Amino acid sequence: MTAAEIKRLAGRRAVDELVTNGMKIGLGTGSTAIEAVRRMAELVRQSVLQDILVVPTSFQTEVDCRRMGLSLWSLNDPVINGRLDLTIDGADEVDPDWNLIKGGGGAMLIEKIIAHASDTYCIVADESKIVNRLGEKTPVPVEIVPEALLTVSNSLEALGSSVDLRMARMKDGPVITDHGNFILDISFKETFDPRSLETEIKAIPGVMASGIFTRKVTDLFIGMENGKIDHRKR
Ligand code: 5RP
Repeated sequence: MTAAEIKRLAGRRAVDELVTNGMKIGLGTGSTAIEAVRRMAELVRQSVLQDILVVPTSFQTEVDCRRMGLSLWSLNDPVINGRLDLTIDGADEVDPDWNLIKGGGGAMLIEKIIAHASDTYCIVADESKIVNRLGEKTPVPVEIVPEALLTVSNSLEALGSSVDLRMARMKDGPVITDHGNFILDISFKETFDPRSLETEIKAIPGVMASGIFTRKVTDLFIGMENGKIDHRKR
C-alpha cells in the first residue's frame, strides 16, 4: 500500500469510530487529517452524520471544509464556547509515551489551542511517524513573533539546539504562518525530555507555540503497511 492509501484508511477509520451526531469537532491540518475531513464531509452529505459543527486548525483546512460543505465555526462562537468534543489531527512524530512533534505544515499554534480545548484528542498517522524518541526524524518547529527572531534564536541555541529559520519556496524570505509569524526548526544532537523542553521553549518571550505536544492524546489510529489500522486508546 502507498503512504497516501494508508493515511486515507487511518483518517477514515477515526471518523467512523469516533464521530457521532451533534459533536463539536476540531479538524487538523495535513495530508492525513484531510482524509478525516473528507470522510466526515461524505457522511454529512449522506445524512449519516447530523448536526456536526467543525472548527478548523488552519487557513487551508478552513478552505477545504468550506469547499466540502461542512458547518464551520470558531472556538469563540458562543455555540462552541471554547470546548470541543473531539479533535482529529495528524503528527510528524509519535513517541512511545504518545508525545508528539507537530507543525510540519506550520499550523501548530491553533492545533495546540484546539488540542487543549478537546475532550477526546485523536491522532491519525501512518506507521512511519512512530519513533523511539522525539527528534529522531524531524526537527521541532517553533512559531515565533518576527521581532523576536534573534532573541529567541539565541535562547534556543542556549538550550543546546541548532536553529534554522524555515524559508519559503517560490518567495524570497521566510515562511509566514497563518498568524503572520516565523517558524524556527530546531534540532538537538542529544536526547531531550519532551515535557521539560516544551515548558522551557514556551517560557521564552516571543515564542507563540512549539511543535512538542506532551499532554493530551487519548486515541491513536496508526495505519500499517499491510492496510491494517491499529486503534490504541488511553
Ligand atoms: C501540521 C501538522 C500535521 O499534522 C503534520 O505535519 C502531519 O502531516 P501529514 O499528515 O501531512 O504527514 O502538524 O502543522
